[in-house]
Amino acid sequence: MHNTHILFLLLGLTIGGLYVQAENAKPITEQCLLCMCEALSGCNATAVCVNGACGIFRITWDQWVDSGRLTIQGDSPLTDTSFTNCANDPYCAADTLQSYMVKYGQDCNNDEIEDCYDYGAIHYMGPFNCKADMPYTYESIFKRCLRNAIRDQKRQSSS
Ligand SMILES: *[C@@H]1O[C@H](CO)[C@@H](O)[C@H](O)[C@H]1NC(C)=O
Repeated sequence: MHNTHILFLLLGLTIGGLYVQAENAKPITEQCLLCMCEALSGCNATAVCVNGACGIFRITWDQWVDSGRLTIQGDSPLTDTSFTNCANDPYCAADTLQSYMVKYGQDCNNDEIEDCYDYGAIHYMGPFNCKADMPYTYESIFKRCLRNAIRDQKRQSSS
């Protein structure tokens, strides 16, 4: 009886652990990704690089390498174009940000939670500078988008 109890406890921990791992593989919510691209590019999916930062999330080559050189299907991670191909593909770019946040996710604004606000800061200012103030334009678009998302969610759940 006692042993069974422990067995179930261990199983529970293992399954719980796996669940947490799977959750952490994609720490950024869809809504958060939307607000990030809104603030970065207006979610304009035209393939473009601005000062070396490409795609709707304006991903840099360094970030792409740091996130494990993800590629679009059929691409080699070692060709010259694999970075721009990935950064200009919304799914590959989003997965790149997810890996980046698995690696660098942290609480930047000291509110004791790691959430979208932190991811927005980490992406724009870098993981080692994310406690700094966000540039005004980026911050205002980003925060307005997040506020609207929360408001829409409340509206939906109350209707
Ligand atoms: C999207 O970006 C492209 C390239 O920068 C630009 O030419 C186009 O006008 C933009 N589209 C919108 C809807 O802003």
